[in-house]
Parts: sequence; C-alpha cells; structure tokens
Amino acid sequence: VQPHSGAQANTAVYFALLQPGDKVLGMSLNDGGHLTHGHPLNYSGKTYEFHAYGVDKETERIDYDEYKRLCEEIKPKLVVAGASAYARTIDFKFMAEVAHSVGAIFMVDMAHIAGLVAAGDHPSPFPYADIVTTTTHKTLRGPRGGVIMCKEKYAKDIDRAVFPGMQGGPLMHIIAAKAACFYEALQPEFKEYSHQIIKNAKALEESLKEEGFRLVTGGTDNHLLLIDVKSSCGITGKKAQRLLDEINITANKNAIPFDTEKPFKASGIRVGTPAMTTKGFKEEDFREVGKIIAYRLKNEETDEVKNECLARVKKLTDKVTMYDDIKY
Ligand SMILES: Cc1ncc(COP(=O)(O)O)c(C=O)c1O
Repeated sequence: VQPHSGAQANTAVYFALLQPGDKVLGMSLNDGGHLTHGHPLNYSGKTYEFHAYGVDKETERIDYDEYKRLCEEIKPKLVVAGASAYARTIDFKFMAEVAHSVGAIFMVDMAHIAGLVAAGDHPSPFPYADIVTTTTHKTLRGPRGGVIMCKEKYAKDIDRAVFPGMQGGPLMHIIAAKAACFYEALQPEFKEYSHQIIKNAKALEESLKEEGFRLVTGGTDNHLLLIDVKSSCGITGKKAQRLLDEINITANKNAIPFDTEKPFKASGIRVGTPAMTTKGFKEEDFREVGKIIAYRLKNEETDEVKNECLARVKKLTDKVTMYDDIKY
C-alpha cells in the first residue's frame, strides 16, 4: 500500500523485475493504454524496450490475435494488461495464458476498473496475474494512491523497489485512507454502487446513440465511454472539452484509435459515470446528461444554447446536492 500513485506502483514493478533494455509488451496509448505502459516520453518507454499491442481497426476492441502474435514474436519478459481509455471487458484469462506460454510475467494494471472488479462487475485478474497494480482513486473510490499485489515470490523485490528504491517515507494518512476505502469496497452497498455505475453508463450510451453519436467500439461494458466527437459533430476533442466545461460538464479530450488528429487536439472525449453515481444520479439523469452533451456539441456556439444547457445541468445537480449551504 505504499506506492504514492498508480504511476509509482507500475514503475516499482518494472524496477523490481526488469533490467534496462528488457523487452516488455503493453497496450498502446493511442488505443487506450497508459503512459506508464511504455510511452516513449515516459520513464517506462525510455528505460525498457517496450512493444505495443492495440485494437482492431474494425471492432476497435483489443486485437487478441495480434497480441498473441506479438507475444510469440517478441518473447517479452513482462506483459502489461490494463487500460486508461478502453470501454470493453478485458480477457485477462486469455492474455495470461499467452503471456505464460512464452515465459513472460503477466501483470495487470486494473487502475480504472478496480472497483468493478471488487464488486464482481468485471472479471477478476487475480486467478491469472502474477502481479496486479491499481490506483485507489478511480472506480475504487478511495484516496489518490497506488497499490501493488503480487505472488509471494516477487514480494521482497517489489517492496525493496518501492523503498528504498524509489520512494522516501510512507504517506500514513493516505495508507489509512486506503484501509477505509478497502473497508467500504467490502460492504454490500459498494456492489450496488458498482452496478449503478454500469447501468448509468449504459443509459448514457443509449442516449448518445439516440442523438446520433459514434461511440468507439459502439458502446461500453464498464464505467466509461469514448465518444468520437470528430465524426459525430465535426469538432475536435479539445473543443468539445471546452464547450462542456463551460456548461459544468467535465470530460477530457482523448485520442481515439487510429486518430488523425494530434493527441493535443484529439478526435474524442472520455466520459465516465462513477463520480455522479456517487452523488445519486440514476439512469434517467444520465439520459438527460447525454441529451445535454449532444445539444451543446451539435449546435452553434451561442449564449442561448450555453445558457439553456447551464440551466439543465443545474436542474440535474440541484436534485442531488450534498452541500446545501454552499452556493455556486
Ligand atoms: C491504467 C492506469 N494506470 C496508472 C495510472 C496512473 O495513476 P496515477 O495518476 O495515480 O499515477 C492511471 C491514471 O490515469 C491509469 O489510468
């Protein structure tokens, strides 16, 4: 529980198990992976020989045949599964079988889906993985922080890689908060929370599709959606993010697979349901969120449209406000 963040957790695993220049296979950032899974600008990509698997051009889902081919060709020492912007269930069983068949250590970074895994809403990586890393602050709904879980034979090396290898003193207040987070994830209410996250994501999917939006992979199995705003309404992800920010909807620009825009502008935005599910949003609220997003992004940038959207957002959030005494 000592890694200060998800990036530190991943880096500690690499530091413990790899030598500079060792071969690793991870998911491409362009297709939904994370910077710490081998991006050239990241410590991981600068230090180890990372190769990337990605998604199929047609389905936009992980290309498992290509993954297998790459494993067999590259024979990596370590395989990293997991993603930051992937809306579909990941087949950890298959990925582990292939990784192990070529002698690789199989690591899963389940940062995004950890809460769904805890609640049984995404297949667990634990029967298959040698090492599982996670953050505690995404669907697990705890403090910002990282965690590493591993088979006992890797434990000493990983502990040493965290301290004294990479970090100084432990953040005891965060470790206490992680304990509280794990306790909450064990309660029956957490399962309901996770189920609602997914129901809400489905409602948002339906609403956006009704409005004619193209979703990467055609929809979602989990807590997030990747919306192709470029082909849906002719604007970049960067512009969509700003237009939504102005009406108090937070989304982030995100590359989509085979993006023709540079990452700084991107063709997509990534939206997720966990935060507003905590505040009490249900399916009908997320259907309205989808309609507001569509109305804002498909219409001219006028004050009239903006003000109408702001009023609709306020109506939704007023229903679930947690802090009646704070005016905003
Ligand atoms: C899959 C994945 N791994 C690791 C991280 C890094 O987490 P942190 O921001 O805590 O360093 C993220 C964060 O976005 C992530 O999505």
